[in-house]
Amino acid sequence: MAGTKLYERLGGYNAIAAVVDSLMAKMGEDARISRYFVGHGDDSKRRLRQLQMDMICEATGGPCFYTGRDMKAVHKGLGISGTEWQTMISYLIGILENFGVAETEQKEVLSLLSGLKGDIVEKP
Ligand code: HEM
Repeated sequence: MAGTKLYERLGGYNAIAAVVDSLMAKMGEDARISRYFVGHGDDSKRRLRQLQMDMICEATGGPCFYTGRDMKAVHKGLGISGTEWQTMISYLIGILENFGVAETEQKEVLSLLSGLKGDIVEKP
């Protein structure tokens, strides 16, 4: 629907949370990515998931407020590569497809994320 917030078009909180959880699970199964989360206990992972959720909820126009640190500060020094970023994006596209998210909304989600890439990725 024209004029409707992306948050609503994606199906609201529960639908977005399901995508975030699926993406975290995929990243956890891939050794190239999961190595970044070694040493994070379950509670830290849940906190991280909640901060990601708050951020995406707010960025898509939902009724949330992100209280975490800014993207550049939190990812600086991790050394995330463009290849690893692309791996994450590929998982995300697969998940959006599985959840039946339409192409227009997929593009909006990807465009939101591409705006963050420069703050998160540090090497090719
Ligand atoms: C390949 C991609 C990514 C990897 C490997 C990655 C990895 C990480 C790691 C290891 C942390 C914890 C850092 C720490 O506590 O010291 C973190 C924090 C965080 N990341 Fe990412 N990240 C990625 C992409 C993203 C994206 C696309 C988003 C946003 C949609 C995001 C949002 C966050 C948030 C909100 C935090 C927590 C901020 C806080 O603690 O205040 N990350 N990330």
